[in-house]
Amino acid sequence: MSNENFIWGVATAAHQIEGAWLEDGKGLNTWDVFAHTPGKIKNNDTAAVACDHYHRYEEDIELMAQLGVKGYRFSIAWSRILPQGKGEVNQAGIDFYNRLIDGLLAKGITPFITLYHWDLPATLQFEDDGWLSYSTAEYFAEYADVCFKAFGDRVKHWMTFNENWCSAVLGHGIGCFAPGRVSRTEPYIAAHNLCLAHGLAVQKFRQGDYGVVGIANNCDFREPLTDKPEDKAAAQEALEFFYGWLTDPVVFGEYPAIMRERVGDRLPEFTPEQKEMLKGSCDFLGLNHYTTHYASREKPEANVIGGDEGNGGIDEDQQVFLSKDPEWAPTSMGWFVVPWGIRKMLNWVSDRYKGLPIYVTENGCSVNDNDPSTAKHDGFRADFVRGYTAAVKQARDEDGVDVRGYFCWSLIDNFEWTRGYDMRFGLIFCNFETQERIPKDSYYAYQEVIKADA
Ligand code: BGC
Repeated sequence: MSNENFIWGVATAAHQIEGAWLEDGKGLNTWDVFAHTPGKIKNNDTAAVACDHYHRYEEDIELMAQLGVKGYRFSIAWSRILPQGKGEVNQAGIDFYNRLIDGLLAKGITPFITLYHWDLPATLQFEDDGWLSYSTAEYFAEYADVCFKAFGDRVKHWMTFNENWCSAVLGHGIGCFAPGRVSRTEPYIAAHNLCLAHGLAVQKFRQGDYGVVGIANNCDFREPLTDKPEDKAAAQEALEFFYGWLTDPVVFGEYPAIMRERVGDRLPEFTPEQKEMLKGSCDFLGLNHYTTHYASREKPEANVIGGDEGNGGIDEDQQVFLSKDPEWAPTSMGWFVVPWGIRKMLNWVSDRYKGLPIYVTENGCSVNDNDPSTAKHDGFRADFVRGYTAAVKQARDEDGVDVRGYFCWSLIDNFEWTRGYDMRFGLIFCNFETQERIPKDSYYAYQEVIKADA
């Protein structure tokens, strides 16, 4: 089966690929500061140069065109547009994204913009406490409005945020992501302000004629370990704590009931006006999906995994144990390859948020090979791409899920946050010393998938 309107695409994020961290008036962001703090990132890598996409975007567009993608999801660096996060607009930043957008359109590639992929202008962290403060949500809406007005004549697909779960839990709970806060209460406060920022930005969006707007939240799938009702409940609750936490508010205007019950006073409340604003504030939903785990109420005897990463919400608030099937192959990141998980995940999203179209806004895997002579042969990733895209097509064609696109993460190896350049997610190898780009076997495998579905 094929679907001619389905968008096969690739995804990246500004901070991970652009480089040019101090060029043309760009301000510092929290990841610039975090990464330049010794000990925070593997090998003390920083994204100062990254893939130098800021200067090499034309070559990258050409590589996308040859791959045959119809869509490109990228993010805008807030501090390139507003170096201080607020106040004066930096025209050179606007000019860069205009060149990028026009270059994509000239090749028939539809731009999908994410307004925020974790790179908060540092001034807003220093002066306003970042996402712990409601004023950051207000500044975000002003920044979003600048982007809608500058690019909305040509860009018709927008996402406010990427993976608010990571900003909340990894940035304010565990502290392995910028701004590096460690707390049991702050993740819920940060998440609250992020949801409100989405709502405020969408109010601005809907005053103009800019197309459709959604949000890209992430979720690993939770399969009940057994058929026991308590394990089914554990899996369902774990999904509500993960995807529901950040998505229910922007669709229904409320947090999931199970969260209110478990988190109690640490979960902030929306006012009636805020609920009204948030309800129905997405025209579509993005899903970033990477792996699957079993969920159970009791601790299983074997194969238990988890600890602080990979769970939804703050771990102990959930009362769910995660485990794995020893047969599942791990990627270099340690994430298990379970293609049927994306099909079930898409069905779960489609059932819970009825009537909203879905895009898989990220899916991919890391294969760690830093050697340019061998990294090209990434059969593991080629198989991953074939397996996961087939499962997405099953959801679309056999289950009737309204999934309208799939964006492979990532176009090119890039700055993988805490793991620096040590983790390679690209369909294209990036030699970070010479900036040479080498398409990998997975690039050609994805090209075949796209052709076969045309
Ligand atoms: C993020 C990307 C990241 C990828 C792999 C997602 O969580 O949106 O920025 O590189 O996963 O870790």
